[in-house]
Amino acid sequence: MKAVILAGGFGTRLRPLSCTRPKLIFPIANRPLLDLTLSRLAEHGVKETILAVNFMADTLEHVFGSSRFGMKIHYSKDIIPNTQAQAKACSPKSLGTGGAIKQAENLLDDKEPFLALNGDILTNANYSAIVETHRKLESLATIALRRVNNPSRYGMVRLQDGRYISEFVEKPSSGAPSNLANAGIYVFEPQVLKLIPKSQSCSIEREIFPKLARKRRLVGHEIRGLWVDVGKPSDYIKANKLWLNTQSRVHQKPMITGTGIEVSAKLKKAVAIGEDVKIKGGAIIGPNVSLGKKVCVGSGVKIRDSIIFPRTIISDYSIVEGTVIGEAAVIGKRVRIREGCLIGDNTIIHDNITLAKDVKICPSKEIFDNIVDSGCVI
Ligand code: GTP
Repeated sequence: MKAVILAGGFGTRLRPLSCTRPKLIFPIANRPLLDLTLSRLAEHGVKETILAVNFMADTLEHVFGSSRFGMKIHYSKDIIPNTQAQAKACSPKSLGTGGAIKQAENLLDDKEPFLALNGDILTNANYSAIVETHRKLESLATIALRRVNNPSRYGMVRLQDGRYISEFVEKPSSGAPSNLANAGIYVFEPQVLKLIPKSQSCSIEREIFPKLARKRRLVGHEIRGLWVDVGKPSDYIKANKLWLNTQSRVHQKPMITGTGIEVSAKLKKAVAIGEDVKIKGGAIIGPNVSLGKKVCVGSGVKIRDSIIFPRTIISDYSIVEGTVIGEAAVIGKRVRIREGCLIGDNTIIHDNITLAKDVKICPSKEIFDNIVDSGCVI
């Protein structure tokens, strides 16, 4: 079986970190998010995967190459013909979820069903079981469904007879038809591709699924277990936390590849520590922290519920909570970074600075003064 992974979105909600890398290579316990998905697809017998790329396509191709876990990797780039691109000169040039799947058509089999996935989902879903439901019910399109508490963030469905999706409502502000959300994991028959216009922007969720639902050709398959849509910063931190905890239960030991940890430093479960990380005495790391390779942590530093990208330095007695810090940033001494902050690559924050909650700092900025307004972008 083949799979298409939607990998070309702009990841606007994770800016500024997604300005310099595609969302799908954001690390989860120090591995690219997409690597975890590819490994799971391979476990479920997928032989070839097509990455539907657009934004920073070259970076993805450089990281994943032409094979992974024994699977062939192909790349399908969003291409909008010039005339249309000119007509839409003010909007970003991308094909949307439907258009990008259509673009991959010539790399898919015309007789076999295929899996299609939103690439920004962290899950341990049983792909084989979804395919089995699809085949058993001779469905045209099958959508994995996940129960959620906050329907306004997702595409929500109404199920008839426990299996056919009769209504599809994208991000309802009120009156959601159920608490079953589109989990961004699909199985399609090749005929579905005929419903999608070629070389045009098209949303599979808004334009194709409602049509299939009306014809009773859309089947739902409920999944349980790990499932996080890595869209917003808090979800990214949550995904990292859930993955760290799952791995720590499975392996029963911390994920540590570094050896530069002083004896009086304390690691609180669950943590992932990359290669060549240095942690000075008295530091408390965790719970729910990933330190990328070559990160340096000073004496007495406290970090919890955070993700620190490679080569960043966090100096003595600083406190970092619920934050993502990009690559090669330098955090001074006694700095306090509160929940929800996103710090861009190569940022320098001077000693004794405090950042309010949800502050976003663009790459390569230098911060000399406290930032007191929560949510501000520098
Ligand atoms: P935001 O800008 O923050 O909404 O992020 P996004 O557009 O990257 O993510 P969204 O949740 O909207 O998209 C779901 C998945 O589809 C992600 O894995 C995206 O990379 C991918 N995707 C979204 N739009 C496109 C597109 O136009 N082309 C391609 N190739 N992939 C897309």
